[in-house]
Amino acid sequence: MPECIELNIENEIAELWLNRPNALNALSAQLVGEVNDALAEVERARPRVFILAGRGERAFCAGADIKEFKPVATTVEARARHYSRNIFDRIEKLPMPTIAAVHGYTLGGGLELALCCDMRIAAENARFGFPETGLGTFPGAGGTQRAPRLIGRSQAMWMIFTGERLNASDALRMGLVNKVVSTDALMGEVCKIASMISANAPLGVQYAKEAILRGEKVPLEEGIRIETDLNMFMDTTDDYAEAARAFIEKRKPVFTGR
Ligand code: HXC
Repeated sequence: MPECIELNIENEIAELWLNRPNALNALSAQLVGEVNDALAEVERARPRVFILAGRGERAFCAGADIKEFKPVATTVEARARHYSRNIFDRIEKLPMPTIAAVHGYTLGGGLELALCCDMRIAAENARFGFPETGLGTFPGAGGTQRAPRLIGRSQAMWMIFTGERLNASDALRMGLVNKVVSTDALMGEVCKIASMISANAPLGVQYAKEAILRGEKVPLEEGIRIETDLNMFMDTTDDYAEAARAFIEKRKPVFTGR
């Protein structure tokens, strides 16, 4: 049984909870290992939506476990440690929509985890920051790459160089989060969004995500070609036919994911 996380998959919605509230959900080696195992399960189960959240009142995640920090003598050793951080890329590559439900401290590696998700919904008490330069390093789990792509180079540089913490409304204004809700309403809101997504055609949602992610890496013309190919495939699906039938029959469509 995992000790530092919880994974619940119900009604095709997966909730992965970081669960070390006494350490503000800091990313210890054990926690990262357990997240990796949980992600393998999510990849197998293929839920419709994946939610990442943190237990306890004070933090989504306060970043890497500083108590486990130790300098290494060579970059070969450092490289071995960096590979153990593949949970970040693994979350980004999940085929279903992913939502980070963030509250309280969302710092360093915790913010980098949230940045791997497709959407971020924040509680009013959320506080965001990259403290790494004050810790003798800099964000190394995608922060220097994903933050500028999301909020622009200059805002990301400001956050990373100064380490200043943003509150939820600053984060919303910058586009770091999609929406801010009262702290009590956070999980209700995230579950509502997850239900809205899972009421839609599964393949439509999945291929839209694929088109967006693949399209980001190529020039527009090639992106449009990726979209066209995936979109033509949609026309052959049962759910596409079902949606038109339901419209004509004035009822809600029943999607099967085929
Ligand atoms: C280990 C941590 C921790 C962390 C908090 N704790 N953050 N333990 N690693 N990152 C532990 C504290 O030691 C303490 O445990 C308990 O959680 C409560 O924290 P306090 O510090 O007592 O709370 P408070 O005074 O309210 O301050 C909250 C805080 C502060 C401002 C968030 O804890 C803090 O600055 N934490 C470090 C945040 C940080 O710098 N994160 C970036 C890490 S670098 P005890 O047992 O003492 O009561 C990083 C790089 C990413 O993330 C690399 C990729 C993985």
